[in-house]
Amino acid sequence: MGEKLSIYEVGLRDGLQNEATRVATNDKAQILAGLVASGLTRIEATSFVSPTAVPQMADASDVMAATRRHDGVRASALVINEKGYDRALAAGAHEVAIVVVISETLAAKNSRMTVAESLDACQAILRRAARDNVFRRVYLAPAWVCPYEGAIAEADVLRAAEAVLAMGLDELAIADTIGHANPHEVGTLFRALGRRFGTERLAAHLHDTQALALANAVAAIDAGVRTLDASIGGLGGCPFAPGAAGNLATEDLVFLATKLGFDTGVSLDGLWHVVGDASRLVGRTLGGRTRAFRERSAGQKTAVPSLGGSHVRV
Ligand code: COA
Ligand code: ZN
Repeated sequence: MGEKLSIYEVGLRDGLQNEATRVATNDKAQILAGLVASGLTRIEATSFVSPTAVPQMADASDVMAATRRHDGVRASALVINEKGYDRALAAGAHEVAIVVVISETLAAKNSRMTVAESLDACQAILRRAARDNVFRRVYLAPAWVCPYEGAIAEADVLRAAEAVLAMGLDELAIADTIGHANPHEVGTLFRALGRRFGTERLAAHLHDTQALALANAVAAIDAGVRTLDASIGGLGGCPFAPGAAGNLATEDLVFLATKLGFDTGVSLDGLWHVVGDASRLVGRTLGGRTRAFRERSAGQKTAVPSLGGSHVRV
């Protein structure tokens, strides 16, 4: 068995928050069941934010309850402020993922806070989560490119990382919020973070806006990152960050990890069932970069059976 690569699934949160089609709680629970059946154990199921700001997440407590019903799953929820933390705790979240926005314009638009206020809110939540025994993930976003301010300086990310690590956390997710980073930049930043703080607590949160999520994932993995975020079918985006397209697709990441010899514990066949369900729910065809290859292989399998053993099941 290969080295472990851990996948943190964000489709039900990052994916659905950006969808125009409102997905019913029962349908989210069905997706969730498929994700769990496929072997995913870390699931960011929802966000406890203002339902006026993000109506798709208005059923956060019910989705959290559904997530908690699955044994062995670590149910995570995104929070931005203490009110969100109160709600997440009441709903029984095992983990919280606190968003710290490090560019002023996006902080104002997304969280209606300054960067300093975002850091203060993070500190207050981290203190409480430590007492409450809740796993503490922090997102630093955007780590490479801000939709409003352009390139983010590496020094700014390192400074923010130092600040939140000093507050005490379990995992630090570095986010390419709008998917504009390139693999060199991803590798450079993760190596710099790794040198300063070690790679054990780092995670990569990548979007596929420019079709570079897989390449960026390889760069993060090569820099020593062993936890990557992904979204079923490549769903995703941020309603407050124009240009943010879908996340790195979970099925793409599992395929890549397998090709590289990592063990994710996730079944690709299982994921493809979920991709089918999710496509029906949002009303369009989902599936990451590997979809075409999978369909081609499946087609060949039926059409040209004589090729037999050479077919790859993805
Ligand atoms: N959950 C539910 N309601 C919340 C809330 C939370 N976490 N935080 C604030 N609210 C409510 C307040 O109770 C208040 O409600 P009221 O008008 O009925 O009294 C209203 O939202 C405004 O509260 P305020 O503290 O003034 O917040 P704000 O207007 O400054 O908004 C956020 C700040 C962060 C709550 C809001 O912008 C938000 O939720 N944004 C979502 C961002 C997001 O999810 N982005 C994608 C993921 S990064
Ligand atoms: Zn995202």
